[in-house]
Amino acid sequence: MARVFSGIQPSGELHIGNYLGAVQNWVKLQDLHECLFSVVDLHAITQPYEAGGLAQRTEEMALSLLAAGLDPDKSTIFVQSHVAEHTELNWLLTIVTPLGELERQTQFKDKSQRQESVSAGLLNYPVLQAADVLLYKATLVPVGEDQLQHLELMREIVRRWNARFGADFFPEPQAQLSTARRVLGLDGQAKMSKSLGNTIGLFDPPDSIWEKLRPAATDPARKTRKDPGNPDICNVFTIHQGFSAPAVQADVAHKCRTAGWGCLDCKRVLADNMIAALTPMRERAAALRADPRRVRDVLRAGAAKARALARQTMAEVRRRMGLLPAEA
Ligand code: TYM
Repeated sequence: MARVFSGIQPSGELHIGNYLGAVQNWVKLQDLHECLFSVVDLHAITQPYEAGGLAQRTEEMALSLLAAGLDPDKSTIFVQSHVAEHTELNWLLTIVTPLGELERQTQFKDKSQRQESVSAGLLNYPVLQAADVLLYKATLVPVGEDQLQHLELMREIVRRWNARFGADFFPEPQAQLSTARRVLGLDGQAKMSKSLGNTIGLFDPPDSIWEKLRPAATDPARKTRKDPGNPDICNVFTIHQGFSAPAVQADVAHKCRTAGWGCLDCKRVLADNMIAALTPMRERAAALRADPRRVRDVLRAGAAKARALARQTMAEVRRRMGLLPAEA
């Protein structure tokens, strides 16, 4: 049994992009492995944010993960800032992290271009991400494609730390991608992302799902109903792969390639399958909203479990790095 760690920022709603890219996989993995999943609030604050709403967004993301199918009896679910060891290990890992690697990260370059003044926190973002995973010595990290470069750097940090302070202490974590590793926005232009306003929310009601899906971009080369399409480059087909059964996917792909139906027919089938999958989640979210203590209890218990594991790792990390024990 592997140990799994992954995280999600409380920077907006859970949408079908981060659901299909990561969270759907998390729900499956909790039946197979020992899993920890975290709402990474300390990562979210590296972007300009409104402090007054952060706590509420953090709680809402935790609620969304439970509604999407994470089960606190199977997984440890917690808020990153509730386990102080994340920031401690972050500092200790900066010692072996090459500055040039941080400056080369695509996400850093993209985000820093959009900000007037770039903080050291934004640069340090991937080191904190490495600390998240290494604190639990997790080996499997289910993420979307946009996180692969951070995972590569994480492995580099492991190799450097192990070489200096203890061979094989940290395992090298592996990314696990889902089939829908990169869901595009409904406009077909960029990654689906709340900040771009091109999402379908996980808890959107049925009529809104259809309203958004109907005009969604498909294979741009398929100009008319009579032209055959290519599902391999169609974002709507990517979404089918997350919500439709394998036999339906095969049928959809065949009808697309042979111009056996139009894109609207294809979207109608997808909308039905999405609505069937998402309705129980929307209902669970409503039930959890009516009982806010439930989410807080889950997060309290999750942080206690995570802290116990984190303390074990940190005791050994401090020792290997030569720090004087407090009780000496
Ligand atoms: P975040 O919060 O941006 O996204 C959460 C997860 O969803 C995936 N994702 C997508 N996958 C496919 N298509 C999309 N349009 C899409 N949008 C989001 C992301 O790849 C991610 O897996 N840095 C991370 C959070 C993090 C983390 C960690 C992840 C912090 N510490 C440790 C793994 C391990 C992030 O910003 O995810």
